[in-house]
Amino acid sequence: MSVAIPPRPPIKSTEVFKKDIFEGKVLFCTGGPSGICKAMTKSIMSHGADAIIIGRKVDKGEAAAKELSNATGQRCVFAQADVREPEQLKAAAKKCIDTFGKIDFVICGAAGNFLAPISGLSENAFATVVRIDTLGTFNTIKATLPHVRRTRGSYIHVSATLHYYGTPYQAHVSAAKAGVDALSNVLAVEEGPRGVRSNVIAPGPILGTEGMDRLTPVGKKDAITRSVPLQRQGGLDDVPNTAVFLFSEAANWVTGQIIAVDGGAMHTNKGSLPYPDSVLDPEGATKSIRAKM
Ligand code: HXC
Repeated sequence: MSVAIPPRPPIKSTEVFKKDIFEGKVLFCTGGPSGICKAMTKSIMSHGADAIIIGRKVDKGEAAAKELSNATGQRCVFAQADVREPEQLKAAAKKCIDTFGKIDFVICGAAGNFLAPISGLSENAFATVVRIDTLGTFNTIKATLPHVRRTRGSYIHVSATLHYYGTPYQAHVSAAKAGVDALSNVLAVEEGPRGVRSNVIAPGPILGTEGMDRLTPVGKKDAITRSVPLQRQGGLDDVPNTAVFLFSEAANWVTGQIIAVDGGAMHTNKGSLPYPDSVLDPEGATKSIRAKM
């Protein structure tokens, strides 16, 4: 009888990296009130950084900032901004400078997503996701770069792996994330001579995030796990561990890279999201999906 080999378990960055590596550093994180970005903020704060998290909803953002401070013993404040609005992001950067005096690290993480085929996407639906993901990243860079130049700081952009394939129902997100990857590469080249680094993390399927809750078709969770070479879906610490490495001095000669954190899923030659059944259904092919696990 064969015995299943257990997958490598997720671990926390504090089990690998020293707890004080980010002492005195300041993180500016869009999308920080929830999901992967909140988990990244928590990990970076767990190594000594203070943080400002940016989101649209005040109640949710204030609660998340309090929770992150309590969990890490570091200072965390919330600034309300929609990344589509440059002036709001500039105000958030000012709040960061007024509160902490500088910006060392930036995570461009705010993102929008839903499942819809091209035939079911309005121009505004497509543009909305491009405005949040791509233009929002550009706006965040513009608002923070003068400060990040002063600290010779570092950017991490949260992308995805789904645009490396023709992932069905994700035309809007695929176009938007391809733009994010390109922006990071240009930023790395333009700002490298000033000592500023820029990298992309491309998460694979991460459990417990709003994105995966929305995107995973009912009953397809096991199929996703089996398609991952390391035989588990991501946990909330997998992406933060990579962020800690990329912001650390251990990565000070790493810039302009796109690092997939996906258990090797992108090399299985198919997207990590299975084909939605409705693609094969002529009646359903123009409808978008609001999926639940
Ligand atoms: C088709 C849709 C739609 C859907 C919205 N729209 N939801 N079209 N199917 N399910 C259309 C609307 O009809 C409208 O077009 C346009 O999009 C704008 O919608 P609004 O609701 O007015 O915009 P807004 O309030 O700005 O919200 C946009 C949103 C946002 C993108 C829907 O609510 C959102 O992002 N929520 C989810 C956040 C999230 O999941 N974040 C994690 C991302 S994870 P019309 O033509 O009617 O005006 C990620 C990585 C995935 O990105 C990687 C996985 C492996």
